[in-house]
Formats: sequence, C-alpha cells, structure tokens
Amino acid sequence: MNNWTRRKPILPPGEGSADALPPSLSWPQLMAMGVGAIIGTGILTLIGVGVDRAGPAVLISFAIAGAVCACAALAYAELSAMMPAAGSAYSYSYAGLGEAFAWIVGWSLILEYSLVVSTVAVGWSGYASPLLMSVGFPEALTHGPELGGLINLPAVGIIAVVAGLLLLGTRESARINSVLVVVKIVTLLLFVGYTLPHFDAANFEPFMPFGYTAQVGSDGVQRGVMAAAAIIFFAFYGFDAISTAAEETKRPARDLPIAIIGSMTVCTLIYMLVAATAVGAISFTRFADSPEPLALILRSIGQGGIAQIVATTAVVALPTVLLAFLYGQSRIFLAMARDGFLPQRLARISARGTPTRITLLTAAIVAVLAGLLPIGKVAALANAGTLIAFTAVGLCLLVLRRRAPDIPRPFRIRAVWLVGLGTIGGCFYLFLSLPAETLLWCLVWNLIGLGLYSAYGQRRSAVGRLGIDA
Ligand code: ALA
Repeated sequence: MNNWTRRKPILPPGEGSADALPPSLSWPQLMAMGVGAIIGTGILTLIGVGVDRAGPAVLISFAIAGAVCACAALAYAELSAMMPAAGSAYSYSYAGLGEAFAWIVGWSLILEYSLVVSTVAVGWSGYASPLLMSVGFPEALTHGPELGGLINLPAVGIIAVVAGLLLLGTRESARINSVLVVVKIVTLLLFVGYTLPHFDAANFEPFMPFGYTAQVGSDGVQRGVMAAAAIIFFAFYGFDAISTAAEETKRPARDLPIAIIGSMTVCTLIYMLVAATAVGAISFTRFADSPEPLALILRSIGQGGIAQIVATTAVVALPTVLLAFLYGQSRIFLAMARDGFLPQRLARISARGTPTRITLLTAAIVAVLAGLLPIGKVAALANAGTLIAFTAVGLCLLVLRRRAPDIPRPFRIRAVWLVGLGTIGGCFYLFLSLPAETLLWCLVWNLIGLGLYSAYGQRRSAVGRLGIDA
C-alpha cells in the first residue's frame, strides 16, 4: 500500500501499547474536564468581539457555532467509544483516512492545543499581572518582547504550575479541576442572575447591523454573523480534549459519550443564557470589542462587586482550560510518539502513571510561545486547526461506517449522515469565514507539515516499518 494512504488497524481497547496509561477517570471527572476546557477566555472576552462583528445578531453566531460543535461532539462520542485511543482525532484519522491525513490532523491539533494553551496563558497573565505589579513585580516581565517587555513570566509560570499538577497525577489534577469548574459555572450564573432584571428588548435593535455573510468593512475588519461565528467558535470547543483521556477512562464505552455530549450541552445552555442577557442588558455598542465585556456590563448596571467576582474568577479558574488542553496535547504527542513520529523514548510512563517526558516537552514548547511570541492574535489560527480536526472527525465517522460496519459501536449515533455532513459542511463554512490572513497562515503551517511528512514522517512510521497496515 502507498505510504500516504496506509491505515492503522483498529485495535480492541487496551491492546497495542505495552506502556499503557492506567485508567483512573469516570464520567463525572471527564465531564468536569470538558466544561473546564470549554468555558474560558472565549465566553469571558469574545462576546465583546462578537457584538462588534455581528451586533445583537451575535446570538445567531452563538447558535451556529454551537450547532456545528454539537454535530462534532456526536461524531467524537461515537468514534471515541468505538476506538478509545489517546490520540483522538489523529488516531481516528489514522484508522479511517490514512497516514498522511492522520499526520496533517495531528499537525493541525498542535495548532489547536498548543495555541489555546499559549493564548489562554497570555490572557490569564493579562488578568493576573496588575495584581502582581501592585506588589512590586517588574512590568518588563509581564510582556513578551513584541510589547516592549522581556518575557511574559506570569504566562510561563502558570504553564509550569499546570504542568506540575499534571505530573502529580491525572486523578489529582481532575479533582482540583472539578472544584474550579464549579466556581466558573456559579460565576456565569451570577452574571445571568444579576443582568436578567435589566433585560430590555430595545437593546436588540438594530438586530443585524452588519449583515449575515462575512465581509471586510472599510476599516479592514471582517464583519457579519458568520464572521462572528467563526471567532465565537473558540468559546465552544474543548469537549474534544475529553477524547484524549480515552486510555485513562475506566469505562470508555459509557463514560466518554456521556462526558462529551454532557459537557457540550451544559456549556451551550449557559452560553446562550449569558449571550442573551449580555446583549439585553445594555446597548451592544457600549461593550463592543471590550477586553472585559462581562465585567463592563456588570459595572454599567451598578454591580461593581459582581464585576470584581468575574475578574477574580478569571484568575482563579482560567487555568482549567490550560489543564485540559496541555493534558490533551501531551496525549496526542504520546500517540504520535508511539506511532514512531516522535522519538519513542518520549512515550515512557512514570511510576505515577503520567507521561513525564512528553508532558515536560509540551509544556516547554507552549511556554516559549506564551512567554516570548506575540501570541495575542492567534486565537483565529487555533480555530483553523480545530476546524480541520473536526472536519476529519466528521469524515472518519462516515468513512468508518462504510469501511468497518461490523466493528462494535457502543455508542451508535442516529442520523449519521446528517451529523457527519453537518460537521463537515459546518466546519468548512466556518473555516471559510475566518480572516484571509488566518487562512494563509494555516496553509503555510500545513505545507510545512506535509513537507516534514514526506521528508521524515513516512520513513519513521511504525505502521510502515512493522508492516502492520490495515
Ligand atoms: N473554549 C476555550 C476557551 O474559550 C478554548 O477558552
């Protein structure tokens, strides 16, 4: 078989790796991991960007991004229960679409996971630095060189703390995560509770001032409902990180679908409430493009104390996003190392049951990105990587139904064509609605990836060297 199209056999759960991660998680911890990954900088800041791009019709943007993610979540639920592999979309693509596709998906997942960790760490530093500077922390150490500083030390520091927690053990990390997730949910519900009495339907006029399709305005900014949806999409993903915990899940066939669909549903409901009450509370022009829209809205309606709670929650609870995405990236790298695409000694598991080397390597990469590079504007690029991975998952869902119809599917979704095509079509539409510059960078990234695959990856492939392709 051609190297590029060779496929990895679908192994029964638990087989295929002598050095497997010990199972320690059940659906409550996994669901908390999903909610912890989903609710983050997205809902805390992007609602401001969203109304700037779409006006009150940002509610439609939320609904579109949520619907596409709901389709993707169903596809992930079926595939992860059928093939509980740490590599998630990368592993499904290897079995369903072939090696070169899997490589590109793994390469795109680096954009998603590493850039989310770096952007959220820089976002966290934005909240934490004023507090640190008030006790004498030097300002030059709160920004990277691009913004006139030396290094963004708080961003590097929080990544180090989260990596340390992960090395302590998966179960320990999950426990702390669960507590922080409750803090986040309560804070968002407080926001809804305090803004609801100020709801005024007049704030929804004009409803769609910038139209529906994404179009570049005279100020060079792309606006419209779809332009907002492509950005808001950032707020919705993270449920996919749950599937990277497949190997560490006690009963993957049951726990993964519950956690993936459950976390997605809870977050979508909360988001719709937050978006509707935010837009209803004050005119959207007052919080468009604000770096802290929720706190600003609360202050505008005379709730300065609750605004303070929102800001504090960001400092205390944003690290759950880092935890889930750093965890996910390390598991994807682990799967790629086992397949021969990274040095295999990186895949060693410590006595505490964590992949120490790969976690440290991942943390070092994202810390350099967060500490030194102008990372503030790359959330859109993380979206591009995620959209490629989600599209591949939609494709795998359909291809594997045809190619491997008899493999047991503990969670078999109905209306599979609707879900598969909804994922592929929805992701493609969102992808095309991203800014042209993002698409260009994404293309460059993937061309580098393909070059690396043809020069290095295809020769290193364990499937190729051992001749075990399906
Ligand atoms: N959904 C995650 C966030 O909004 C990436 O931070």
